[in-house]
Amino acid sequence: MSSTTTFQAIRGRFLDIQNTVSQASEIPSQTRYIADGLLITENGKITWFGTWEQGKNHVPVNVELEHYPEQLIVPGFIDSHIHFPQTEMVGAYGEQLLEWLNTYTFPTEIQFKDKTYADKIAQFFVEELLKNGTTTALVFCTVHPESVDALFEAAEHHNMRLIAGKVLMDRNAPEALLDTAESAYLDSKALIEKWHGRGRALYAITPRFAPTSTPEQLQKAGQLKMEYPDVYVHTHLSENKNEIAWVKELFPEQKGYLDVYDHYGLTGNRSVFAHCVHLEESEWDCMHKTGSAIAFCPTSNLFLGSGLFPLKKAWDKQVKVGLGTDIGAGTSFCQLQTLNEAYKVQQLQGEKLSAFESLYHATLGSAKALDLDEKLGNFNVGKEADFIVLNLKATALQQLRQSKAKDIEDAVFALMTMGDDRNIHATYIYGQKVYEQK
Ligand code: GUN
Ligand code: ZN
Repeated sequence: MSSTTTFQAIRGRFLDIQNTVSQASEIPSQTRYIADGLLITENGKITWFGTWEQGKNHVPVNVELEHYPEQLIVPGFIDSHIHFPQTEMVGAYGEQLLEWLNTYTFPTEIQFKDKTYADKIAQFFVEELLKNGTTTALVFCTVHPESVDALFEAAEHHNMRLIAGKVLMDRNAPEALLDTAESAYLDSKALIEKWHGRGRALYAITPRFAPTSTPEQLQKAGQLKMEYPDVYVHTHLSENKNEIAWVKELFPEQKGYLDVYDHYGLTGNRSVFAHCVHLEESEWDCMHKTGSAIAFCPTSNLFLGSGLFPLKKAWDKQVKVGLGTDIGAGTSFCQLQTLNEAYKVQQLQGEKLSAFESLYHATLGSAKALDLDEKLGNFNVGKEADFIVLNLKATALQQLRQSKAKDIEDAVFALMTMGDDRNIHATYIYGQKVYEQK
């Protein structure tokens, strides 16, 4: 054994989804609940997982066992769409998307030219993720390269797997937030060279959305994606009806909104499109054909009055879906609150969202949407050891409700309905405890 090897051994109640699925109906048979389990990690990776009875002799000598008899241990939550510079503007009153951007968002984002300011908010943001049990996220920065450095530096401090990128935006925004097609290309290229694959960091080419990029800029973004095929593409799509009409005016030569991105080579297996509330049939087909993924952001879609995301349609069309908070249009950093609203969005469409399907979307499903399901999302041996310890009884009301829970599924459903950051007891990144509730 090398002297630098670090082990962790965790005993407790574990719940995860063992394999990715192509239909929601497959989820129950992939759900793994171990009432008395053991997880062993070595240098950040899972090396053993199973029941305590089978595993207790595998605990390395001299490793102190951490035991959580009451809590529930699940894989770390994965947020597939969030904006770190919008942390300070959650709950901005009264507008829908386009007015909300002009009134609140753009003035907020101008501040991130200042690296010191960006550092301060990036550190707050990363701590807020950890406090809410989110161990990986796909993140919008601002147009300023400084904002990207600030975020990756803050994430690196906790050894967090994070995907992020500089916003590309060369029209239809305040002057102080504009780049050019050429500077966007050069700045993004330099950031890819600096950050993509450094530690656990990964880069996303991040055009804000079609209306704020010229065709020249989207063409440069596509060129960059060709040069670096394994970086991500992260943008917004079909969130709001006025936005969609505007895209059609700005790009009359394209068949529709998604066709703009597709035309410039921005669809594909590592492309993540936030929202997709109002896709047309041919756009669903394009999402499927290109292997592109959707970030479903229920608190945002309700807060901005954007619409109801048709989750069942995504399953039917075999399009990957991750769960996103979309802070600051979204209203909570917590995936539990996000699932609470996701359930209601399905109810309003006459559909159900079960507790285990919800867990899938917050963990392995989001990992799949981010093309990280080989590395993250459950407790399979070989995966990266990012996990959280949940307290199911953080309030008096939760204690009462949990005392009546029929089984683990009912307990988890109640947790998702009522839970928030008070339920996150501890967060582990790469085998190390990085947050514990005081
Ligand atoms: N579309 C373009 N920019 C944004 C943004 O910052 N938030 C949301 N929700 N949608 C967008
Ligand atoms: Zn967004």
